[in-house]
Amino acid sequence: MTDNATFKHEDVELQLPVVKASNGNDGYNISQLLSKTGNVTLDPGFVNTASCESTITFIDGNEGILRYRGYPIEQLAEKSTFLEVAHLLIHGELPTQDVLDTFKYDVSNRMMLDERMRELYRCFPRGAHPMQVLSAGLSALGSFNRRTLDVHDPEQVNEASLRLIGSMPTLAAYAYKSSVGEPFQYPQKNLSYVENYLRLSFGTPQEDYEIDPAVVNAFETLFILHADHEQNCSTSTVRMVGSSDATMYASMSAGVNALSGPLHGGANQAVLEMLVKLREEGVDMKTYVAQVKDKKSGVKLMGFGHRVYKNHDPRATIIKGHADKLLRASGKSNDLLDMALELEEVALNDEYFISRKLYPNVDFYTGLIYEAMGFPANYFTALFTLGRLPGWIAQWREDHADPTRKISRPRQIYVGETERDYVPMDKR
Ligand code: ACO
Repeated sequence: MTDNATFKHEDVELQLPVVKASNGNDGYNISQLLSKTGNVTLDPGFVNTASCESTITFIDGNEGILRYRGYPIEQLAEKSTFLEVAHLLIHGELPTQDVLDTFKYDVSNRMMLDERMRELYRCFPRGAHPMQVLSAGLSALGSFNRRTLDVHDPEQVNEASLRLIGSMPTLAAYAYKSSVGEPFQYPQKNLSYVENYLRLSFGTPQEDYEIDPAVVNAFETLFILHADHEQNCSTSTVRMVGSSDATMYASMSAGVNALSGPLHGGANQAVLEMLVKLREEGVDMKTYVAQVKDKKSGVKLMGFGHRVYKNHDPRATIIKGHADKLLRASGKSNDLLDMALELEEVALNDEYFISRKLYPNVDFYTGLIYEAMGFPANYFTALFTLGRLPGWIAQWREDHADPTRKISRPRQIYVGETERDYVPMDKR
C-alpha cells in the first residue's frame, strides 16, 4: 500500500496518510478531514473506525486469531496463569519469576477491603443484579483510596491498578454474597487469587470451602480467555471515560455498566436463560432456530454472532472443550449442554447463519460451566468482569500514555429542524 490515500470531493483533494498495522488492517488517518473539508465521517456502530493505535491485543476475525501482546490465546490458556497474563497485558511482557512473585504479593496485599465497604454492600436489596452492585462497588472503591486518584502520577496509577485487581475478587464475591444474603468472608494471604475468589464466594462461617483444583484450573483459563479483547464496547467505554481524566475507578465502573448489556457481556446470562426456557417450554432446536430467523419475532440466538469474528471465536472453541470435560466429569449427563450442542449444530448448518457468518461466541458455553459451579445466571457477567479487568486497566493506561491523546468527543451530522421561532402555548 502507498503511504497516502487520496480523498476527493467536489473541488477538494486531500492526502490521507496510511497508518501501517504490524498485523491486520492498515488505516487512513482522517484527522485533517474536518479542518480541510468542513465535513465529518459517519460510521454507525464504528464498524469501520479505529479509535486508537494499540499494542495490546490483536484479533483476526476471518482466521479466528486472538493474541495478547503477540502471544496466541491458545498458548496462554494452556500454559499461563491469570495473574501472569494480567501482568503481560498491563506491562507488555511476560514477567520473570521474581517480578511475578512481587506482582502476586502486591495484589494479594490489596484484597481486603475497607470495613465500611461491607456496610455499603449490605445496603443493596436481595436480588439486586450483581453488575449493579459491582459497578457501585468499583466507584466507591475510589473514595476509599483517595491517594490513588491522580491520573497523571505514574505511582498513583500503579497503585490504583494493583488496588483494583486486588479488590476485584472480594468485590465480586461480595456482590454474590449480598445477592444471596450470606455473610461476607475475608480474603486469606495463603491462597492464590482464584482460590481466594472461590472461597470468598462459597465459604461460610459455618463451613470452610473445600477448594477443587479442577475448578481453580478452569477459572484460571476462563479468566485468561476473557482478559482483553481490543476495542469492544466496554473497553471503548473505559477508554472514553478515562479520556476525560476521570479516575481509574470511575472508568472501570463505567466499563462494568457497558459490559452488563445482553448484546455484550450480559449474553452469558441470556444464553443460560434461553436454554432453560427452551427446556421448560419443550421447544425443539429446529423450531427455535426458525423463530430466530424470523426477524419479526425479535428473538436472537444468544451467544451467537460477533462484530469481529467471522469464522470462529477461538475462545469459544477452548471453552467448549472445557465445558465438555467439566460437565461430563465422572460420566455425568447434562441436558443443557446437550441442548446447546444441538442448537449449535442446527444453527451452523442453517443457510441464515452460514451466509451471515454467525458462530458461537465466548458467551455460548461459559454460562453452562458457571451454572455447574453453583453460580446463579444473573451473576455470570460479574465473572466475565473479573476476567476482563486487567485488559481494561491495560487499555486505560495505554490511552493515558499516548502523546496524541485527546478527550474522546465524536461529532454528529445534525438532521433535525432548522431554526424556527418559539411557539406560545396557546398557538400549539
Ligand atoms: N441471532 C440471529 N441473528 C443474528 C445474530 C444472532 N445472535 N447475530 C447477528 N444476527 C444477524 C443480524 O440480524 C443481521 O442480519 P441481517 O443482515 O439480515 O440484518 C446480521 O446477522 C448481522 O448482524 P449485526 O447485528 O449487523 O452484527 P453486529 O456486528 O452489529 O452485532 C452482535 C454483533 C451484537 C454480537 C450480534 O451478533 C448479537 O446480537 N449477538 C447475540 C448477542 C451476543 O451473543 N452477544 C455477545 C457478543 S460477544 C461479547 O460481547 C462478549
